[in-house]
Amino acid sequence: MTKTALITGAAKRVGKGLALHLAAQGWNIAIHYNTSADDAIILQDELKSSFPNQKFELFSADLNVTSEVENLIPQVIRKMGSVDLLINNASVFDRGDFADTTTEFLDRQMNVNFRAPFILIRNFAQLAKEGTIINFVDTRIVNNKSNFAAYSLSKKALWELTKMTALELGPKIRVNAIAPGLTLPPEEKGDDYLWKLAENIAMKRPGGLEPILKSLDYILNNDYLTGQLLFCDGGENLG
Ligand SMILES: NC(=O)c1ccc[n+]([C@@H]2O[C@H](COP(=O)([O-])OP(=O)(O)OC[C@H]3O[C@@H](n4cnc5c(N)ncnc54)[C@H](OP(=O)(O)O)[C@@H]3O)[C@@H](O)[C@H]2O)c1
Repeated sequence: MTKTALITGAAKRVGKGLALHLAAQGWNIAIHYNTSADDAIILQDELKSSFPNQKFELFSADLNVTSEVENLIPQVIRKMGSVDLLINNASVFDRGDFADTTTEFLDRQMNVNFRAPFILIRNFAQLAKEGTIINFVDTRIVNNKSNFAAYSLSKKALWELTKMTALELGPKIRVNAIAPGLTLPPEEKGDDYLWKLAENIAMKRPGGLEPILKSLDYILNNDYLTGQLLFCDGGENLG
Protein backbone atom coordinates (compact mmCIF):
# COMPACT_ATOMS: atom_id res chain seq x y z
CA MET A 1 0.00 0.00 0.00
CA THR A 2 1.26 3.49 -0.81
CA LYS A 3 2.39 5.29 2.32
CA THR A 4 1.23 8.74 3.35
CA ALA A 5 3.32 11.68 4.53
CA LEU A 6 1.78 14.63 6.37
CA ILE A 7 3.92 17.73 5.83
CA THR A 8 2.99 20.82 7.82
CA GLY A 9 3.46 24.13 6.01
CA ALA A 10 3.73 22.29 2.69
CA ALA A 11 2.35 24.93 0.32
CA LYS A 12 5.64 26.66 -0.46
CA ARG A 13 9.38 26.98 0.20
CA VAL A 14 10.98 24.05 2.11
CA GLY A 15 7.66 22.29 2.70
CA LYS A 16 6.84 22.31 -1.00
CA GLY A 17 10.31 20.95 -1.81
CA LEU A 18 9.74 18.09 0.65
CA ALA A 19 6.34 17.33 -0.91
CA LEU A 20 7.67 17.23 -4.49
CA HIS A 21 10.63 15.08 -3.41
CA LEU A 22 8.55 12.53 -1.48
CA ALA A 23 5.86 12.35 -4.15
CA ALA A 24 8.54 11.47 -6.72
CA GLN A 25 9.45 8.54 -4.43
CA GLY A 26 5.85 7.27 -4.48
CA TRP A 27 4.43 8.79 -1.29
CA ASN A 28 0.88 10.07 -0.95
CA ILE A 29 1.02 13.57 0.50
CA ALA A 30 -1.26 15.26 3.02
CA ILE A 31 -0.56 18.91 2.18
CA HIS A 32 -1.09 21.03 5.28
CA TYR A 33 -1.33 24.82 4.92
CA ASN A 34 -2.66 27.79 6.85
CA THR A 35 -2.78 31.06 4.89
CA SER A 36 -1.32 29.84 1.57
CA ALA A 37 -4.47 28.23 0.13
CA ASP A 38 -3.71 29.30 -3.46
CA ASP A 39 -0.17 27.90 -3.35
CA ALA A 40 -1.46 24.69 -1.76
CA ILE A 41 -3.99 24.20 -4.58
CA ILE A 42 -1.31 24.87 -7.23
CA LEU A 43 0.95 22.28 -5.56
CA GLN A 44 -1.88 19.74 -5.33
CA ASP A 45 -2.67 20.21 -9.06
CA GLU A 46 1.02 19.87 -9.98
CA LEU A 47 1.37 16.67 -7.93
CA LYS A 48 -1.84 15.16 -9.28
CA SER A 49 -0.81 15.69 -12.88
CA SER A 50 2.75 14.37 -12.32
CA PHE A 51 1.74 11.36 -10.21
CA PRO A 52 -1.83 10.43 -11.17
CA ASN A 53 -1.84 7.15 -9.22
CA GLN A 54 -1.07 8.76 -5.83
CA LYS A 55 -3.28 10.69 -3.41
CA PHE A 56 -2.73 14.37 -2.67
CA GLU A 57 -5.18 16.04 -0.30
CA LEU A 58 -5.29 19.49 1.28
CA PHE A 59 -5.64 20.11 5.01
CA SER A 60 -6.06 23.60 6.41
CA ALA A 61 -5.20 24.27 10.06
CA ASP A 62 -3.95 27.23 12.06
CA LEU A 63 -1.31 25.67 14.30
CA ASN A 64 -1.81 28.53 16.75
CA VAL A 65 -5.33 27.20 17.49
CA THR A 66 -5.44 24.11 19.70
CA SER A 67 -8.65 22.60 18.28
CA GLU A 68 -7.32 22.85 14.72
CA VAL A 69 -4.05 21.15 15.71
CA GLU A 70 -5.93 18.41 17.58
CA ASN A 71 -8.11 17.71 14.51
CA LEU A 72 -5.30 17.47 11.97
CA ILE A 73 -4.04 13.88 12.39
CA PRO A 74 -7.59 12.43 12.77
CA GLN A 75 -8.65 14.28 9.59
CA VAL A 76 -5.64 13.02 7.66
CA ILE A 77 -6.29 9.42 8.71
CA ARG A 78 -9.98 9.74 7.84
CA LYS A 79 -9.29 11.14 4.37
CA MET A 80 -6.05 9.37 3.41
CA GLY A 81 -6.60 6.02 5.22
CA SER A 82 -3.35 6.22 7.21
CA VAL A 83 -0.40 8.43 8.07
CA ASP A 84 3.09 6.91 8.08
CA LEU A 85 5.37 9.94 8.13
CA LEU A 86 4.86 13.22 9.99
CA ILE A 87 7.10 16.14 9.08
CA ASN A 88 6.83 19.09 11.46
CA ASN A 89 8.04 21.75 9.04
CA ALA A 90 5.66 24.70 9.61
CA SER A 91 7.16 27.50 11.61
CA VAL A 92 7.03 31.16 12.51
CA PHE A 93 10.36 32.99 12.52
CA ASP A 94 10.07 36.39 14.16
CA ARG A 95 12.91 38.57 15.38
CA GLY A 96 12.85 39.86 18.95
CA ASP A 97 15.36 40.19 21.80
CA PHE A 98 14.44 38.54 25.09
CA ALA A 99 13.62 41.89 26.75
CA ASP A 100 11.28 42.87 23.89
CA THR A 101 9.38 39.58 23.84
CA THR A 102 5.79 40.13 24.91
CA THR A 103 3.74 37.26 26.27
CA GLU A 104 1.60 37.17 23.11
CA PHE A 105 4.71 37.07 20.91
CA LEU A 106 6.18 34.25 23.02
CA ASP A 107 2.91 32.29 22.84
CA ARG A 108 2.78 32.47 19.04
CA GLN A 109 6.35 31.20 18.54
CA MET A 110 5.89 28.45 21.12
CA ASN A 111 2.43 27.44 19.89
CA VAL A 112 3.36 27.01 16.23
CA ASN A 113 6.96 25.81 16.61
CA PHE A 114 6.73 23.63 19.72
CA ARG A 115 3.21 23.09 21.09
CA ALA A 116 1.68 22.08 17.74
CA PRO A 117 4.46 19.52 17.00
CA PHE A 118 4.00 18.20 20.57
CA ILE A 119 0.28 17.60 19.96
CA LEU A 120 0.83 16.19 16.45
CA ILE A 121 3.52 13.77 17.67
CA ARG A 122 1.28 12.62 20.53
CA ASN A 123 -1.71 12.13 18.21
CA PHE A 124 0.48 10.35 15.64
CA ALA A 125 1.69 7.96 18.37
CA GLN A 126 -1.86 7.28 19.58
CA LEU A 127 -3.58 6.98 16.20
CA ALA A 128 -0.98 5.96 13.61
CA LYS A 129 0.92 3.81 16.13
CA GLU A 130 3.97 3.28 13.90
CA GLY A 131 6.04 5.24 11.42
CA THR A 132 8.56 8.05 11.24
CA ILE A 133 8.59 11.63 12.53
CA ILE A 134 10.95 14.37 11.41
CA ASN A 135 11.07 17.71 13.22
CA PHE A 136 12.55 20.81 11.62
CA VAL A 137 14.61 22.73 14.13
CA ASP A 138 17.36 25.26 13.32
CA THR A 139 21.15 25.41 13.61
CA ARG A 140 20.55 28.31 16.04
CA ILE A 141 19.66 25.80 18.78
CA VAL A 142 23.37 25.37 19.58
CA ASN A 143 23.96 29.03 20.46
CA ASN A 144 22.50 31.41 23.02
CA LYS A 145 22.05 34.51 20.84
CA SER A 146 18.85 36.27 21.85
CA ASN A 147 18.01 38.24 18.69
CA PHE A 148 15.32 35.62 17.92
CA ALA A 149 14.84 34.69 21.58
CA ALA A 150 11.38 33.09 21.47
CA TYR A 151 11.98 31.39 18.11
CA SER A 152 15.33 29.92 19.23
CA LEU A 153 13.85 28.69 22.51
CA SER A 154 10.91 27.09 20.68
CA LYS A 155 13.33 25.17 18.43
CA LYS A 156 15.56 24.18 21.38
CA ALA A 157 12.44 22.77 23.05
CA LEU A 158 11.50 20.91 19.86
CA TRP A 159 14.93 19.27 19.77
CA GLU A 160 14.54 18.16 23.41
CA LEU A 161 11.11 16.79 22.52
CA THR A 162 12.68 14.89 19.60
CA LYS A 163 15.02 13.01 21.95
CA MET A 164 12.38 12.42 24.63
CA THR A 165 9.82 11.04 22.18
CA ALA A 166 12.44 8.95 20.33
CA LEU A 167 13.11 7.19 23.63
CA GLU A 168 9.47 6.69 24.57
CA LEU A 169 8.00 5.84 21.17
CA GLY A 170 10.62 3.41 19.83
CA PRO A 171 10.84 0.89 18.32
CA LYS A 172 7.59 1.41 16.39
CA ILE A 173 8.14 5.12 15.84
CA ARG A 174 11.46 6.80 15.03
CA VAL A 175 11.83 10.51 15.76
CA ASN A 176 14.67 12.58 14.31
CA ALA A 177 15.40 16.23 13.61
CA ILE A 178 16.90 18.27 10.79
CA ALA A 179 18.62 21.57 11.62
CA PRO A 180 18.81 23.80 8.54
CA GLY A 181 21.14 26.76 8.39
CA LEU A 182 21.27 29.21 5.46
CA THR A 183 18.67 27.52 3.23
CA LEU A 184 16.18 29.96 1.70
CA PRO A 185 16.13 33.72 2.38
CA PRO A 186 13.13 35.17 4.23
CA GLU A 187 10.37 35.96 1.68
CA GLU A 188 11.05 39.70 1.74
CA LYS A 189 14.82 39.27 1.16
CA GLY A 190 16.88 38.10 -1.82
CA ASP A 191 19.66 35.53 -2.23
CA ASP A 192 22.36 38.16 -1.64
CA TYR A 193 21.14 38.32 2.00
CA LEU A 194 22.13 34.66 2.51
CA TRP A 195 25.39 34.96 0.55
CA LYS A 196 26.47 37.82 2.83
CA LEU A 197 25.73 35.75 5.97
CA ALA A 198 27.51 32.75 4.40
CA GLU A 199 30.84 34.63 4.55
CA ASN A 200 30.92 33.60 8.25
CA ILE A 201 30.37 29.85 7.86
CA ALA A 202 32.77 27.07 6.88
CA MET A 203 31.21 26.30 3.48
CA LYS A 204 30.98 30.01 2.45
CA ARG A 205 27.70 29.52 0.57
CA PRO A 206 24.01 28.99 1.32
CA GLY A 207 22.84 25.38 1.10
CA GLY A 208 19.47 25.62 -0.63
CA LEU A 209 17.12 22.66 -0.48
CA GLU A 210 19.44 19.87 -1.62
CA PRO A 211 21.19 19.10 1.71
CA ILE A 212 17.79 18.97 3.38
CA LEU A 213 16.39 16.50 0.84
CA LYS A 214 19.52 14.33 1.21
CA SER A 215 19.10 14.35 5.00
CA LEU A 216 15.44 13.44 4.61
CA ASP A 217 16.41 10.43 2.47
CA TYR A 218 19.12 9.44 4.95
CA ILE A 219 16.63 9.42 7.84
CA LEU A 220 14.02 7.50 5.85
CA ASN A 221 16.50 4.90 4.59
CA ASN A 222 18.27 4.26 7.90
CA ASP A 223 15.80 2.42 10.12
CA TYR A 224 18.20 2.21 13.08
CA LEU A 225 18.41 6.00 13.36
CA THR A 226 16.34 7.65 16.09
CA GLY A 227 16.72 10.65 18.40
CA GLN A 228 19.33 12.17 16.08
CA LEU A 229 19.92 15.66 14.75
CA LEU A 230 21.25 16.21 11.24
CA PHE A 231 22.72 19.68 10.70
CA CYS A 232 22.23 20.97 7.13
CA ASP A 233 24.10 24.17 7.76
CA GLY A 234 27.49 24.19 6.01
CA GLY A 235 29.19 24.11 9.41
CA GLU A 236 27.34 27.08 10.91
CA ASN A 237 26.86 25.21 14.20
CA LEU A 238 30.64 25.20 14.70
CA GLY A 239 30.60 28.87 15.70
N1 LIG B 1 14.55 28.91 5.43
C1 LIG B 1 15.66 28.72 6.12
O1 LIG B 1 16.75 29.17 5.70
C2 LIG B 1 15.63 27.98 7.44
C3 LIG B 1 16.72 28.06 8.30
C4 LIG B 1 16.70 27.40 9.50
C5 LIG B 1 15.59 26.62 9.84
N2 LIG B 1 14.53 26.55 8.99
C6 LIG B 1 13.38 25.73 9.40
O2 LIG B 1 12.98 24.91 8.31
C7 LIG B 1 11.56 24.85 8.23
C8 LIG B 1 11.09 25.33 6.86
O3 LIG B 1 11.59 26.64 6.61
P1 LIG B 1 10.83 27.68 5.67
O4 LIG B 1 11.71 28.86 5.57
O5 LIG B 1 10.34 26.99 4.45
O6 LIG B 1 9.57 28.03 6.62
P2 LIG B 1 8.57 29.27 6.47
O7 LIG B 1 8.45 29.61 5.03
O8 LIG B 1 8.98 30.36 7.40
O9 LIG B 1 7.23 28.65 7.04
C9 LIG B 1 6.68 27.46 6.50
C10 LIG B 1 5.20 27.48 6.64
O10 LIG B 1 4.80 27.50 8.02
C11 LIG B 1 3.43 27.76 8.01
N3 LIG B 1 2.92 28.41 9.22
C12 LIG B 1 3.33 29.54 9.82
N4 LIG B 1 2.46 29.87 10.82
C13 LIG B 1 1.50 28.91 10.84
C14 LIG B 1 0.33 28.70 11.60
N5 LIG B 1 -0.07 29.54 12.58
N6 LIG B 1 -0.42 27.61 11.34
C15 LIG B 1 -0.07 26.75 10.36
N7 LIG B 1 1.02 26.90 9.58
C16 LIG B 1 1.79 27.97 9.81
C17 LIG B 1 3.16 28.71 6.84
O11 LIG B 1 2.06 28.18 6.13
P3 LIG B 1 1.07 29.13 5.25
O12 LIG B 1 1.99 29.83 4.28
O13 LIG B 1 0.12 28.20 4.62
O14 LIG B 1 0.41 30.08 6.23
C18 LIG B 1 4.49 28.68 6.07
O15 LIG B 1 4.32 28.59 4.68
C19 LIG B 1 11.03 25.70 9.38
O16 LIG B 1 10.71 24.87 10.48
C20 LIG B 1 12.18 26.62 9.73
O17 LIG B 1 12.19 27.01 11.09
C21 LIG B 1 14.53 27.20 7.80
